[in-house]
Amino acid sequence: MNRGKFIVFEGIDGSGKSTQLKLLAKYLEGRGVSCYATCEPTDSPFGGMLRSCLTGRLDADERAIAALFAADRFDHIFNPLNGLEGKLAAGITVLCDRYYLSSFAYNGGIVPLEWVIELNRPAMEALRPDLVVYIDVPAERSMERVARRGETERYETLDRQKKIREAYFRLFRRFETQEHIEIVKSESDKSDTQEKIRRIADELFGWRKACKRN
Ligand code: TYD
Repeated sequence: MNRGKFIVFEGIDGSGKSTQLKLLAKYLEGRGVSCYATCEPTDSPFGGMLRSCLTGRLDADERAIAALFAADRFDHIFNPLNGLEGKLAAGITVLCDRYYLSSFAYNGGIVPLEWVIELNRPAMEALRPDLVVYIDVPAERSMERVARRGETERYETLDRQKKIREAYFRLFRRFETQEHIEIVKSESDKSDTQEKIRRIADELFGWRKACKRN
């Protein structure tokens, strides 16, 4: 049994990553790959606490929030009943909306980054993504989409989104030798963006040779 692939989507808020993730899952399923789509924060009790913090229903210390994101992630990976480790070992490809790079970009801008990285070390050692797709949108465009959704969350201001985007790019330089990161510019037509992601996935699955993309 071949191990499933672990594909992570990253981006600032409102970058359209969850839509792109669903479209990719549909494409892969169509090619006979069994897929499991998931996200962080998860819908576990840890994720529930995080959602309360993000919407302001619960006020908490930023270190506690960063630690909770890590706890949610460890449970997501290692939970004996439904953890990602088990799914990947069973040959299922996992598509995950956000992973530890979100913690570094978001929480690492508020509490010390090196501490957040250390906190997430068990996840980095146990389960590195086979591919990280970063959907790149300017902060202005992401804020337009966030505003259309209604309820804004803890980190959703233009200035903050700009800083998070810069943090992501610093992280990509820092981790370029350790992580397989593909930056995909979001096009105004979502199917054009999806087309680029599918070509990257084709290479990952060995369905086509690596070639120059733009
Ligand atoms: P998400 O549900 O992906 O928001 P959206 O659909 O708007 O992209 O993520 C919720 C928020 O949680 C988002 O603002 C990013 C933040 N977050 C962190 O701060 N640290 C983390 O480790 C993760 C996974 C998310």
